[in-house]
Amino acid sequence: MSQPKFVYFDNNATTQVAPEVVDAMIPFLREQWGNPSSIYTFGKQVAKHVETAREKVAALINADPREIVFTSCGTESNNSAIYSALMTHPQKRHVVTSSVEHSANIKFCQALQAQGYQTTFLPVEPDGGLDLHLLEQSIRPDTAIVSIMWANNETGVLFPIEEIAAICRSKGVLFHTDAVQTPGKLKIDVNDLGIDLLSLSAHKLHAPKGIGLLYVKRNTKYRPYIIGGNQERGRRGGTENVAQIAGFGCAAELAMASLADENTRVRALRDKLENGILKGIPGSVRNGARERRLPNTLNVSFDSVEAEGVLLMLDQAGICASSGSACTSGSLDPSHVLTAMGCSIARARGSIRLSLGIYNTETEVDYVLAQLPPIIQKLRSHSAKPKEKTVAAGKG
Ligand SMILES: Cc1ncc(COP(=O)(O)O)c(C=O)c1O
Repeated sequence: MSQPKFVYFDNNATTQVAPEVVDAMIPFLREQWGNPSSIYTFGKQVAKHVETAREKVAALINADPREIVFTSCGTESNNSAIYSALMTHPQKRHVVTSSVEHSANIKFCQALQAQGYQTTFLPVEPDGGLDLHLLEQSIRPDTAIVSIMWANNETGVLFPIEEIAAICRSKGVLFHTDAVQTPGKLKIDVNDLGIDLLSLSAHKLHAPKGIGLLYVKRNTKYRPYIIGGNQERGRRGGTENVAQIAGFGCAAELAMASLADENTRVRALRDKLENGILKGIPGSVRNGARERRLPNTLNVSFDSVEAEGVLLMLDQAGICASSGSACTSGSLDPSHVLTAMGCSIARARGSIRLSLGIYNTETEVDYVLAQLPPIIQKLRSHSAKPKEKTVAAGKG
């Protein structure tokens, strides 16, 4: 088998910028570099392009362009949604979120707790699902917002956003969803879903890092998180990142066009990879629900190995993958998502995430399926070797 030099199976971390997106951005770096807020034509022309991009990203989620606020990233969008809900409802000091959210929510809510706000981190079931009854019960008269992700970035598990939105509506509570992992993979219609606030991040859909959006449903009270100029209809200060916004607009169009490919070809590649691993490597197990899952994501644990070793050896073979674990000072913390699902520390430490995308091929899947089993075998044989007896100094 000819060896591909570089296999990128970490599309949930970030995605390759599409060539079309680069082309869409360049004019705003080279020629049209004016400030869109300026009153002269050179600036106003740029402003028109910002509005065209706004229309394109709005179309991706079936929103009105006026409901789109460009931000710097998904993290800012999540923080802004929760902050705004608390600021516009000062008598409400409680937030409901889940225990498997991205750190953009978990750490923000922990910071809120340190300031005297209250947060409920909803537990999840062993397959990563949510107990909606529990969610409903956790909403209190002083709950300002429920913020629940749509697709989990580590496992790909999907939460039933439409049902959650309906529960929130019936309770009169704002509902925000972190939909950062969904564009191009799921159809997004904010009206059908009944969502009040929704976050996206462009670098997950083949646009550059450092640009995101927050959808704010019409007539939702809003308080900006970044305070400054009157940009974004007063909802986000700071001169618009025009080139990135133009790239985001182009990527939104591409994401709509790639929906079918993600759900057929990419899904089939992911399934081939999953079946090959689970059948070919004894002691391997999938983490998270099989069906209610993004079409591109696979999270798998291997008995008796540490993910760190697997990832290093995959890297030596030119394969990019990741673990759900945060690497802190050389030691791998077990993933908060997998431990919330009830996985043992050992299973969580032995887990890797493989996330595919539109640029991946079957040859790459075959290559990974050829490389992974000997890597696991080698690591297991190392860990099975009896450790040399060490004699403590001074104890004879
Ligand atoms: C589910 C989810 N939410 C939020 C973020 C944060 O997005 P950004 O990197 O644009 O801040 C990510 C990025 O990994 C994510 O996967």
